[in-house]
Amino acid sequence: MASETPPPTRALAFGRAARAYDAYRPRYPGAAFKTVEEFSGRPLAGARVADVGTGTGIAARALHERGARVVGVEPGAAMAAQFRGELPGIPLVRGDGNRLPLADGSLDLVTYAQSWHWTDPARAVPSALRALRPGGALALMWNDPDPSVPWVADQRARIEKWFGPGCFISDVRTPAELSWRKRTLRWSRRVTVDFHLAKLATHSAVIMLDASEAAAFLAAERAQLTRHFPGLLDEPYATTVVVALRP
Ligand SMILES: C[S@@+](CC[C@H](N)C(=O)[O-])C[C@H]1O[C@@H](n2cnc3c(N)ncnc32)[C@H](O)[C@@H]1O
Repeated sequence: MASETPPPTRALAFGRAARAYDAYRPRYPGAAFKTVEEFSGRPLAGARVADVGTGTGIAARALHERGARVVGVEPGAAMAAQFRGELPGIPLVRGDGNRLPLADGSLDLVTYAQSWHWTDPARAVPSALRALRPGGALALMWNDPDPSVPWVADQRARIEKWFGPGCFISDVRTPAELSWRKRTLRWSRRVTVDFHLAKLATHSAVIMLDASEAAAFLAAERAQLTRHFPGLLDEPYATTVVVALRP
């Protein structure tokens, strides 16, 4: 009997689309990293940083380019392989954000870019605080489609109808035991409808669908979008940055 690969959990589904994830997901705006520097009270240059749930390394690369000494932490095999292929100069360890495989007090900054909502904060907070030096910073980032833009709000309503409430929306949970500073940055990128649909296909809810359901969802979205955008569209984002210091 042929052996079957068990379906991944949603948290680890991204590996099925690792290359597309890296190609189509948005980068973080430079202002997000400036905000991390401002809220953490130190420059990224020379900082010892762990980027957790690093995936294909979208945030890790940006941190590295700003002079940080970054290590990526990623539980998924395929995302880790994509990272290593793209960023051979940045170290990566396989590990879980709920129990970081990092030495106590060894870091100035721990980042979770678009990955905190996949952890259990009751375990992830103490784990991150343990790895930080006193005064070090825990920074969480999300790149969400900006719901204040009408077509994004309409799309969100369609997505919620298809997948259920709360889908595709990052749940910004900031545990009460720490004192957080928060900033939301608005920006957009101009992409084709095809590019936008390819980005939608990298969301875990879509990856978890079977192929025919995913195709039906994307075809329905294409029909809606091409009515308003014959070619290019402005894909608007609200990037949220929240930072707390280790007491
Ligand atoms: C939406 S992707 C974000 C990837 C990257 N940080 C970025 O900004 O594009 C979420 C990542 O979190 C990882 N992940 C899932 N569960 C995790 C956990 N418990 N601890 C750490 N990372 C986790 C997934 O494998 C995936 O690579």
